[in-house]
Amino acid sequence: MGHPKSLGHGVGLRRDHFDRILAGPARVDWFEAISENFMVAGGRPLDVLTRVRERYPIVLHGVSLSIGSVDPLDEAYLDRLDALAKRFEPAWVSDHLCWTGVGGHQAHDLLPLPYTVQALDHVVGRVLRVQERLGRPIVLENVSSYVAYAHSAMPEWEFLAEVARRSGCGILLDINNIYVSSKNHRFDPRAYLQGVPKEAVRQFHLAGHSKKGTFLLDTHDHPVIDEVWDLYRDAVRRFGPVATLVEWDDRIPEFERLEQESIRARGIQEETLRPEPAGTGKGTA
Ligand SMILES: [Fe+2]
Repeated sequence: MGHPKSLGHGVGLRRDHFDRILAGPARVDWFEAISENFMVAGGRPLDVLTRVRERYPIVLHGVSLSIGSVDPLDEAYLDRLDALAKRFEPAWVSDHLCWTGVGGHQAHDLLPLPYTVQALDHVVGRVLRVQERLGRPIVLENVSSYVAYAHSAMPEWEFLAEVARRSGCGILLDINNIYVSSKNHRFDPRAYLQGVPKEAVRQFHLAGHSKKGTFLLDTHDHPVIDEVWDLYRDAVRRFGPVATLVEWDDRIPEFERLEQESIRARGIQEETLRPEPAGTGKGTA
């Protein structure tokens, strides 16, 4: 997948902010809509998304594809997703590199995969089928995780890179998820960034998390922490002006607070990519 012009800086479209967004201009470039929230026949959310789409680019971000599961792909879900994508013409359609259930049982969680050659073949085959069904490349996001498999044969970033290389899908790099998993599993988050192919990255996510004693939990209910901003800076240095989205899903603040986080991301991206004055000799990663 190529590297199209970046969408810029966006925020998640949340019900709490519908009135504010419709009332006046927002200082963001685009919105990310949770696909499943709009898989309905009618009603206010669909009406709001229609009006938002008239003014902004959008991206559809799903949580139910379960690309890693061994259950058959949910064709009815894919039909609904396809219809939504045809109606709203998102810049891209994304979901997560995970599984969410098996045997028809839903875990209501984004569970990590074992990073094995067998799992890789399985996921690549399913991504290719989904892309054929939707008639477009999809974009997959790294999840934060709290468990790992003893039989994993490669690091997560290598698995993610291979899925993208073999299927042609794009990558949504969640910088907070890399940070959370790096603490929980004790790996170097910079090695993660280095292991992901530059040309595959379409989008970044930024979010806040919670400290839970011995581990970090990806809760999306806090501002982005300084260490994650630092990692974002390194990601921008490596991947360039990639579309960036701030997620905030619980204890949702006023829209202006969310807007501020997005403006901060924009500032960091601009500062990081600003050409060095001649003669300073500072290189890039
Ligand atoms: Fe995310």
